[in-house]
Amino acid sequence: MALVTFEGIDGCGKSTQIEMLKTYLKKKNVEFSVFREPGGTSIGEQIRQILLNRDNTDMSAKTEFLLYAASRAQLVEKEVKPRLERGEFVILDRYIDSSVAYQGFGRKLGKRMVVLINEFATEVLYPDLTFYLEIDEETFKKRVRSSGDRMESEGWDFMERVIKGYEFLSKSRRFVKIDSRLSQDRIFNYIIREIESHFSF
Ligand code: TMP
Repeated sequence: MALVTFEGIDGCGKSTQIEMLKTYLKKKNVEFSVFREPGGTSIGEQIRQILLNRDNTDMSAKTEFLLYAASRAQLVEKEVKPRLERGEFVILDRYIDSSVAYQGFGRKLGKRMVVLINEFATEVLYPDLTFYLEIDEETFKKRVRSSGDRMESEGWDFMERVIKGYEFLSKSRRFVKIDSRLSQDRIFNYIIREIESHFSF
């Protein structure tokens, strides 16, 4: 039926919004599934552990990028596509845009190769709608511990490049950009308004 994704830098509050959306969809009796990236499958969760392990300081940017793409390929083939074909509503906590922003811009691998490999990994499956929750430096520093996982410990310089990536992506029509300094209820109302204007259930 539809593929909806949530994006943003670490600490942007997307997990809270996804939880609120799950409650809303249950009330509406909509058949839906939620998966996180990297992860969402048994193989993907094993890849996630490698990617986020702080001890893996030696990981090259290309290895990192290909591991994210591998987790995504497994998730799309085994879980996402079959559900979309059955007419379900699928929500993803991060997807291709995360790789464009984090690996393409953050790690400076470039947008072109990131898109190409991801189109191979997903058989060119793009979301119908993407919510991008924007946060500023102060909120990021308040919410994200530098002692967090391998990606969270990257610091603000890296995140600034990731934000540039998201800014570039947000020109696309499927992107809905939301200021995550708003209250959780206001953000959620905004999300629901968009969902109701795109899909009917
Ligand atoms: P999470 O904390 O939202 O679960 O995401 C895990 C981390 O992985 C987060 O720091 C963003 C990063 N990431 C990428 O760098 N590239 C990707 O393609 C994905 C899906 C996540």
